[in-house]
Amino acid sequence: MTDAVTLIIFGATGNLARVKLLPALYHLELAGLLDGHLRILCNGRTAFEQADWRQYVAGVVREHARDGLQAEAFARFEQRLHYFRGDLSDVDAIDGLKRELENGDYPRNHIFYVALPPATYGTVVDALGEADMLDEYDGHWRRVVIEKPFGSDLESARNLQRRIARHLGEHQIYRIDHYMGKAMVQNVLVSRFANLLLEPLWNRNYIDHVQITRNETVGVGSRAGFYENTGALRDMLQSHLMQLMSLVAMEPPVSMDSDDLRDEKVKVLKSIRPIHPSAVPSNAFRAQYGAGRVDGQDVPAYLEEPGVDPGSVTETYAALKLYVDNWRWRGVPFYLRTGKRMAEPRTMVAISFKQPPKHFFRSAHIERPPPNWLLMSMSPEESLRLEITVKEPGMTMRTRQISLEAPFRCEHHVQTDAYEGLLLDVIEGDNSLFLRYDEVEWAWRVVDPVLAVWATERDFIHTYPAGGWEPAEVNKIFDKPYQHWRNALEPEKWPTGSC
Ligand code: BG6
Repeated sequence: MTDAVTLIIFGATGNLARVKLLPALYHLELAGLLDGHLRILCNGRTAFEQADWRQYVAGVVREHARDGLQAEAFARFEQRLHYFRGDLSDVDAIDGLKRELENGDYPRNHIFYVALPPATYGTVVDALGEADMLDEYDGHWRRVVIEKPFGSDLESARNLQRRIARHLGEHQIYRIDHYMGKAMVQNVLVSRFANLLLEPLWNRNYIDHVQITRNETVGVGSRAGFYENTGALRDMLQSHLMQLMSLVAMEPPVSMDSDDLRDEKVKVLKSIRPIHPSAVPSNAFRAQYGAGRVDGQDVPAYLEEPGVDPGSVTETYAALKLYVDNWRWRGVPFYLRTGKRMAEPRTMVAISFKQPPKHFFRSAHIERPPPNWLLMSMSPEESLRLEITVKEPGMTMRTRQISLEAPFRCEHHVQTDAYEGLLLDVIEGDNSLFLRYDEVEWAWRVVDPVLAVWATERDFIHTYPAGGWEPAEVNKIFDKPYQHWRNALEPEKWPTGSC
């Protein structure tokens, strides 16, 4: 049985709450997973009467819930909703919130979800701490959920950590990275550690290189204010892609308990070879989208998006080569890349295996047979795909490529959003899928030299057309001439003879 909880959402009228948090909570209600006593106290600066707030949330649910609004479930859900107006930079508002929470209507275990811009995280925690709202007593707990990015570089992350650690113990801090809540991301762990098949091959002896990709077709939309100071390296790569990388590269943990799991992830991050500033150009690449066409529509260049500085060199695409200098991975490049306004949306871990030591079955017209690839596709397809070489039908000893492909989900499996599982974890006090501070710190250490060099290069950035692929200049980060980005599940060309 879970404890009775009050979930306080700061920034309840903002984008994250509207698109993710409120729909996720409603889905949990629909699935019968919310404890009867849970209350949701929503905070924003806009004035709402309680009834108007419930109407507003009904609109959000209608727009964003998988199957729209179901009257019975919403009737239960709206009973949990309350609205508290107040600007958190105002001491009176904090006092008012404290009094509201103490008025007897709300369960006394509190989760504060800070769905506000990153620059406010420290201020909000200070304000709560100074009002003694983060103290745990009489068996009642306090948890604070903080979105990414946690800091904007190593130094600011350390400062933020120092600041919030004055008020909170590590067990109270839930640093969220929604990728850790994705079923297909968790499936990396299961595929690796619930099957023995992959383990003997999962190392430098058999793997040529690893690619981790998250390409999006969307642009920055209305988020220029956030994105201009963030860019793709901080927004996606330092967080989501490095988390994914740590799951691909980690050693089997002692157990799936939160600290055992996170200890192994940290070891991967600690083993990443530091990038010397002089090596940044050969290990990292950035670019920005120009105008182009996406889904048959003309779309503007990044520089023409509302709120973007016309001289901005903020990257909307970032690629990085990393080496994990440990016993298992030494010498194997991990190529991470992410871009907005790319030709196709895709999230994928692609593992390229080494060539056999001798080619007995080389077909006359190909120099180098395709390697075996293992593709863990996370979106839009959710599947595992293994590509292997087999004999071509007929009497000649020629080869062709085939693939073994397994979808992750059957039609009847509901696709839940990452936030649903993660919110439930916070309510239940399971922090295994949340980032411990040392993970964040080590991830910043990896990208910090790149950020520092890029910060000095203010005059030029490569561009790519929206709806297109990254510029060919990115290929300089590949170690070997035969390495290339794997863009799709189906390879661009298989040698003749494939199906
Ligand atoms: C967020 C980034 O963390 O992740 C966004 O801030 C990005 O810029 C989003 O669009 C991508 O998430 P997903 O789940 O669509 O891969």
